[in-house]
Amino acid sequence: MELTITNLSKRFKDKTAVKDVSLTLTPGVWGLLGANGAGKTTLMRMIADILNPTSGKILLDGKSIHAMGEEYRNLFGFLPQDFGFFQGFTVKDYLEYVAALKDVPARETRKKIDSLLHTLTLTDVKNKKVIKLSGGMKRRVGIAQAMLNDPKILIMDEPTAGLDPGERVRFRNFISEFSHNRIVLISTHIVSDIEYISTKNAVMKAGKILDVGTTDELVKLAAGKVFTCTVPADRMPMYEVQLRIINQRNEGNNQVSIRYLADEARTNDSVLVPPRLEDLYLWLFPQEDSIKEEK
Ligand SMILES: Nc1ncnc2c1ncn2[C@@H]1O[C@H](COP(=O)(O)OP(=O)(O)O)[C@@H](O)[C@H]1O
Ligand SMILES: [Mg+2]
Repeated sequence: MELTITNLSKRFKDKTAVKDVSLTLTPGVWGLLGANGAGKTTLMRMIADILNPTSGKILLDGKSIHAMGEEYRNLFGFLPQDFGFFQGFTVKDYLEYVAALKDVPARETRKKIDSLLHTLTLTDVKNKKVIKLSGGMKRRVGIAQAMLNDPKILIMDEPTAGLDPGERVRFRNFISEFSHNRIVLISTHIVSDIEYISTKNAVMKAGKILDVGTTDELVKLAAGKVFTCTVPADRMPMYEVQLRIINQRNEGNNQVSIRYLADEARTNDSVLVPPRLEDLYLWLFPQEDSIKEEK
């Protein structure tokens, strides 16, 4: 199975949100990383065939997804970023409704819903109205609806937004297991959510795919640029201006250990450390980037 995206662009009036993106997705978990405004949602909505590209094409095993229509939708699951529910429905009624829309065979519906409720630890709230649920629970109901038809291609836009640390861990394990022989594409700006489960990652910036690779391959881009050292706490205001500090920890005794990004060591006691995906992300997306809007 291969989902091939070729020279895909999307233009909204004066804004090109996705610029000439080419990417071939194969089975496994794919992380789509990028700051707010990078174009992740726009790209995913085109892959979901709910937004028409301005140019370019998306093929599944050589067939246009748009031309496949119903056939594509039957093997596809989507969790949109802004997920509007029928909030007055109970969780169970809502999932039964979606199952009917997706042509899940009636005799399989109950078993499927029960198993998803169980996996996503929603069984206890299945008779509650969606409107009464916490943000994390709603997100998990959203994940459940995307998976009802046992999709071969699962696209989830910021699935871990609003989940607490325990829920994030369960989500990661569950997706890892699920991804066998399927294409799972997950967008996030929370790097740790995909760092250890993604087969490959695509890094998106200002509408373009900057790089594609495994986490190990990608972090190499930040090799030689991540340092740690200890500095006196009263000098921190100066270091905060001079260094791109990723992390700081107060060690007590007027000492602060810091992790920073630079082309070379900036203090005498700095030690070069192996980069993590988050370091690369911050290297590629300095803070001002997510604020600055590029046309
Ligand atoms: N319907 C739209 N009309 C106009 N501009 C849009 C529309 N949707 C997205 N954009 C713009 O396209 C860019 C990419 O947005 P989006 O795909 O939502 O990025 P991300 O999901 O990575 O945050 C942003 O600058 C956004 O404002
Ligand atoms: Mg988005």
